[in-house]
Order: sequence, then structure tokens, then C-alpha cells
Amino acid sequence: MGMTDVHAHLLPGVDDGVSSVEEAKKAIKYFEDMGVERMFLTPHIMTDCPNNNAEFLKQRFEEFKKSCPSKIEFRLAAEYMLDEKFIGHLNKEVLSFDNKHLLVETSYFSAPIELDTLIYDIMATGYQPVLAHPERYLYMSDAKLMQLLSRGVKLQLNFLSLAGLYGKHVSARAKSLLLSGKYTFVGSDFHHQERYERVLSRIILKKEEIEAIRILLENNRKL
Ligand SMILES: [Fe+2]
Repeated sequence: MGMTDVHAHLLPGVDDGVSSVEEAKKAIKYFEDMGVERMFLTPHIMTDCPNNNAEFLKQRFEEFKKSCPSKIEFRLAAEYMLDEKFIGHLNKEVLSFDNKHLLVETSYFSAPIELDTLIYDIMATGYQPVLAHPERYLYMSDAKLMQLLSRGVKLQLNFLSLAGLYGKHVSARAKSLLLSGKYTFVGSDFHHQERYERVLSRIILKKEEIEAIRILLENNRKL
């Protein structure tokens, strides 16, 4: 009970997540029943979603709050792809969690050009990068992840990575990063309810993994 989710594609019709108000309402009921107290909505901001920027999403978020009343406290943030359009957003206006932490992602298969420079630029602008689901970046070595951590990048676990949603390799990496204390936050990365429920129903965690997740949930709560 009382959980905060830091990563969800619940804002309807703006990315590859929830597509309609009806679908959002159903998902909200699901999260309410689960005991979620606060949710950061994190639509994709990337070249593939050309309409999405801070101004447009803030407007859609206001509409969402009116059409989907809930006891969950919703906050608007975003998940920024570190692509060629990112710097334009950073220089104009970004949607962060708390005016400090900024959720970013990369492609699953290849490193962004100038990853280190982009991390530097984010920090120079006064934000702390939170790298979404690092366990899924097959191209990224453990050594590179450790280097990012040492530079102050924080890592966000996708909860269902532990259940094998993205394959055994990703699951094993997520468990290893979790038990070695490398993550700071945990999120659902919710897109579609049916798939989410199906995978969640088969998750099996060890006691030490549950304890490690409790720590991450406490960090979520402080955002
Ligand atoms: Fe996401």
C-alpha cells in the first residue's frame, strides 16, 4: 500500500501506451486496487512521437485529470529518448520528476551518439539523469553502467524485467543489479494492462529481492 510508481505510459493517446480515456480509466482502477498512491505519468518524448513536448503534454495532462478523477495523485514527467531532438527539449523546457531528476532512455540496441556529452549537458543544466530500464540495453556493458553510476546517473528498474517480460538475459541482469544495490528507483513502465497483468501474475521473487525493492519504493516515495 502507498506505493509511488515513477514510470507509466498512462496518459492516453500520446505514445505507444494507453490509447483511450476508457482504457486509462480501467488501468487507474487496477492501480487503485493495487494500493498505488502516486503515479508519475511519463510519456515518451522522442523523434517517433513528434507532437510530444512539455507544452503539449501539460495541456493533455490537464485534460486527463479532468476526465479521469482518481484517489491516485498523478504527476506529469516524461521519458526522454537521448536522440537528436533531445538537446532542443533540454534547452527549452523539460518535464522532470521534481525539478531535479530527469528520466531518460536510449535505444535497446545501440548507444546514442555522444552519450557522455548528453549526460554532461543534462547535469550542466542542473538535472540528475535517471536512466530508465538499463537492464534492457543489450549493447551496454557492465563497465559502462558502472561508469555512468560513478558520474551520478541513477538507475530505474522496470519491475517486470524481474518476471522475464523482456527475456531471461534481461531478467538475470535486473536481479544482479538489484541485489548489488545499483538501482535507485523502480517503475512499472506500464503500457498495456492485459500484458502487464499476465506477466505480473507469474512473478516469483526471493526474500532478498523483495527487501531490495522495498528500498527502491522508499526512494520513489521521496521524489
Ligand atoms: Fe517507458
